[in-house]
Amino acid sequence: MLVASNRGPVSYTVADDGSLRSKRGGGGLVSGLSAIGPESGALWVCSALSDGDREAVRRGVGEDGVRMLDIPADVHADAYNGIANSVLWFVHHMLYQTPLEPVFDAEFRRRWASYETYNRAFAEALAEEAAEGAAVLVQDYHLTLVPGMLRELRPDLRIGHFSHTPWAPPEYFAMLPDDIARQVLRGMLGADRLGFLTRRWADAFTACCERFAGGLGDTRIGVHGLGADADFLRVRSHERDVEERIVTLREEIGEGRRTIVRVDRTELSKNIVRGLLAYRQLLDDHPEWRERVVHVAFAYPSRQDLAVYRDYTAEVARVAEEINERYGTPGWRPVLLHLKDDFARSLAAYRLADVALVNPIRDGMNLVAKEVPLVSDTGCALVLSREAGAHEELGEDAITVNPYDVVQTAEALHEALSLGAEERAERSKRLASAATALPPSRWFLDQLEALRA
Ligand code: G6P
Repeated sequence: MLVASNRGPVSYTVADDGSLRSKRGGGGLVSGLSAIGPESGALWVCSALSDGDREAVRRGVGEDGVRMLDIPADVHADAYNGIANSVLWFVHHMLYQTPLEPVFDAEFRRRWASYETYNRAFAEALAEEAAEGAAVLVQDYHLTLVPGMLRELRPDLRIGHFSHTPWAPPEYFAMLPDDIARQVLRGMLGADRLGFLTRRWADAFTACCERFAGGLGDTRIGVHGLGADADFLRVRSHERDVEERIVTLREEIGEGRRTIVRVDRTELSKNIVRGLLAYRQLLDDHPEWRERVVHVAFAYPSRQDLAVYRDYTAEVARVAEEINERYGTPGWRPVLLHLKDDFARSLAAYRLADVALVNPIRDGMNLVAKEVPLVSDTGCALVLSREAGAHEELGEDAITVNPYDVVQTAEALHEALSLGAEERAERSKRLASAATALPPSRWFLDQLEALRA
């Protein structure tokens, strides 16, 4: 079995003394795939992303079961930043501000050629590594062309592809140049089986194929709603570093206050700014909560090579500061914003959460919505965007919001804060059980079995 993804399970940095330090890779995809360890005998093919990674490839350092591809840095940058994250991510999350963007010009075509080169490097490496008849599980929008390319090189393989993002509806997908739209779909349709996180995304893909590619052909489609990893989280969230951060966080929050928690990458689709505006609206509309609640907002750096992400991060910080200046008192800081990644501190916040705020504009699944109810010490209420994939499974016990409507979101926060302790704990229990219906190991094996069937 082989797995292919842009970001792999490990990344390297070069320390001052020249030695290589390794660190676990981040993001939804890597957590989802964490179930496959070296003991599975699987080979994970991924990109070298940093100078440290490239150095590791050069020195032949690496983990068993992982092969990093040293794709030239400029080709990778054009494919990953220029196409995957700025075009395909934007299309599937419907993030374009359409009066000005996108513009598919000659520069776009140049980057697209890099995206093809980068996909071809994966297809060739997989073709080289795979045993006769092996199963290959290709991941995400970075690698949409791989199934088709690999099919040509190795018709004997079982090829699967899984999308960890939403899929755009045909009216939006139609923004892509026609030949590119067809190329993406045909690339994907090179797979025997395509997986999506929800029925909604699978249906959107099917609709795109009907409109642009003459239908699905022989490719089968499956839905696998990745769940939270209960075993890992329950243990990890009680380790010492988390307990230590709970003490610090409690001090920052102050005695006897409720907490509204959010933890995200600083990602445009996560809708962090509107979340802050909704919190401000809550303090305006329900002044009884002033000094009695704190919004713990962790927004970790992501895709900082892209200017829009840097600007967005600055805007998040600006709005948080404005709220603190306007409402804060000597003993109360209304928003605790942290921008530096710290997994143990995220888990500490999960444990202290009374309310989890998950309000993305669009999200493939959103694992935070599934993790907080599972980990929170006293049970938390969940304010959840109807545009998150997780809403399909958690909608019944969450408080649903339209992510654009900050007045409604403010009311939802008020309702969540006002739930009685018992009601909240019961809902949280039901949320946690829905959230863990398909743990990562099962999620992965289901796909593998379906692909082999
Ligand atoms: C999304 C994608 C994942 C990716 C994650 C982090 O969840 O679907 O494939 O791992 O974002 O993004 P990054 O660009 O940091 O790999």
